[in-house]
Amino acid sequence: MAWKKIAEKDSIAVGKGREFKVEDKKIAIFNQNGYHGIDAICVHQDGHIAPGKLDGDIVECPLHFWHYNIKTGKLVDYLKDVTLQTYKVEARNDGIYVDV
Ligand code: FES
Repeated sequence: MAWKKIAEKDSIAVGKGREFKVEDKKIAIFNQNGYHGIDAICVHQDGHIAPGKLDGDIVECPLHFWHYNIKTGKLVDYLKDVTLQTYKVEARNDGIYVDV
């Protein structure tokens, strides 16, 4: 694991997510009561979840509305035991960093 700078500070709006490509991974970073990172691709049919609607800790995949917890990566409906990988995210003085 290594910390990588992925964006300038304040470049992810409060209450929103953005997708980043970090090395070979696609990571969705959400700015919702702190920063949270999870794999960016929905397990259903590869939807991009970063632009999904946020409701508290839950993001809704824009394609068919499956829901994931942005803190744990856990899918909260439809299938049991599906969890997206999570990543630590830090806002530092010079930017936003993710541990990949
Ligand atoms: S691709 Fe995400 S719910 Fe279908």
